[in-house]
Amino acid sequence: MTKGKIKIAIVGLGNCASSLVQGLTYYVQGLTYYKNVSDRQRVVGLMHTVLGGYKISDIEVAAAFDINQTKVGKDVAGAILAAPNNTKVFAKVAKTGVLVNNAKVLDGIGHYLKDVITPSRAAIPDPVSVLKKSEAQILIIYLPVGSQKAVEYWANVCLKAKVAMINCLPVFIASQKDWADKFKKAKVPIIGDDIKSQVGATILHRTLVNLFLDRGMPVDRTYQLNVGGNTDFLNMLERSRLTSKKLSKTRSVTSQLKLRNLDIASDDVHIGPSDFVPFMRDNKVAFIRVESRHFGDVPMNVEVRLSVEDSPNSAGIVIDAIRCARLALDRGIGGPLIEPSSYFMKSPPVQFTDTQARKKLEEFINF
Ligand SMILES: NC(=O)c1ccc[n+]([C@@H]2O[C@H](COP(=O)([O-])OP(=O)(O)OC[C@H]3O[C@@H](n4cnc5c(N)ncnc54)[C@H](O)[C@@H]3O)[C@@H](O)[C@H]2O)c1
Repeated sequence: MTKGKIKIAIVGLGNCASSLVQGLTYYVQGLTYYKNVSDRQRVVGLMHTVLGGYKISDIEVAAAFDINQTKVGKDVAGAILAAPNNTKVFAKVAKTGVLVNNAKVLDGIGHYLKDVITPSRAAIPDPVSVLKKSEAQILIIYLPVGSQKAVEYWANVCLKAKVAMINCLPVFIASQKDWADKFKKAKVPIIGDDIKSQVGATILHRTLVNLFLDRGMPVDRTYQLNVGGNTDFLNMLERSRLTSKKLSKTRSVTSQLKLRNLDIASDDVHIGPSDFVPFMRDNKVAFIRVESRHFGDVPMNVEVRLSVEDSPNSAGIVIDAIRCARLALDRGIGGPLIEPSSYFMKSPPVQFTDTQARKKLEEFINF
């Protein structure tokens, strides 16, 4: 049974958008296309082949927005490969027929990206009209960290156009009461904030913390240092743009202590993006350390090194978030979607452990 198309729009055709769009046409070697998998198949990279009756083939890009002259005016299939994008190309994307619209720059370009991105001089269409005309149902926000004004601008666009929002960056909208209320009042669903990758530093760090706590051991001190070579890491060299990212990543881990009424002094936890290493491109490496004590208060510690391709790691989550947003639209639910946000995002309105969040997500899907 097919439940109809899910029309998405994307703001920010960077590395994450590239992986997501590629995934829509990905062929799993010797098996099938992602878009053709049935609900009984287990396929590498997907948590749900069919989610709430929706297949990946139901998702199509209806509209796109960026500001970079290398991307504006191009077909989405070409824009996702344009500089400075540097994530792995794992699928050949045929022309979509959707051209990238120019958008307002606002605070989208920070100090370090000024040398890398030249804003397009093309006319800027009214985004509400573009979304309505394209019949987009869900807008995915992939703007650079620190784009407070730009994200708020697009949140208002979603409210006006009555389009659901998936907020992939740490500008707090779904988790901020005044914004959450606006989405509730407008009956527009939102999943946010700040995407939590499939198996990335955040979920790994949270899992380690819960392992220690479950086994009766304290988390005395912990750090998570992250390095990478994509524009996200370049942008995050600007410390004033970084505040919300550090907060989001830190709270995502310390929330696991708080759920058990435990705390950790701010000097004993350090989590955040740490440096830009150009040759690493879209490869991100995270170093995680947890210091603890076992039986008899005897000290011990663990160090973990994680190496991932940053953008496909987030696309594997967004592919499910899109289908959950569509389920909310089908059910006439507006406001922040608690269960999907808790499992998919680092800064959701409500934090659970990932095991609890996964259980609640399945209940939401099968409601
Ligand atoms: N695993 C992950 O990759 C991951 C995880 C969590 C959060 N995120 C967040 O997702 C966001 C996107 O990541 P990315 O790697 O694709 O970044 P990116 O730098 O590759 O892409 C950002 C895109 O936004 C465009 N842009 C900038 N200002 C704009 C504006 N005002 N209007 C429209 N477009 C604008 C840029 O031209 C670029 O194409 C980042 O904020 C990142 O921190 C990514």
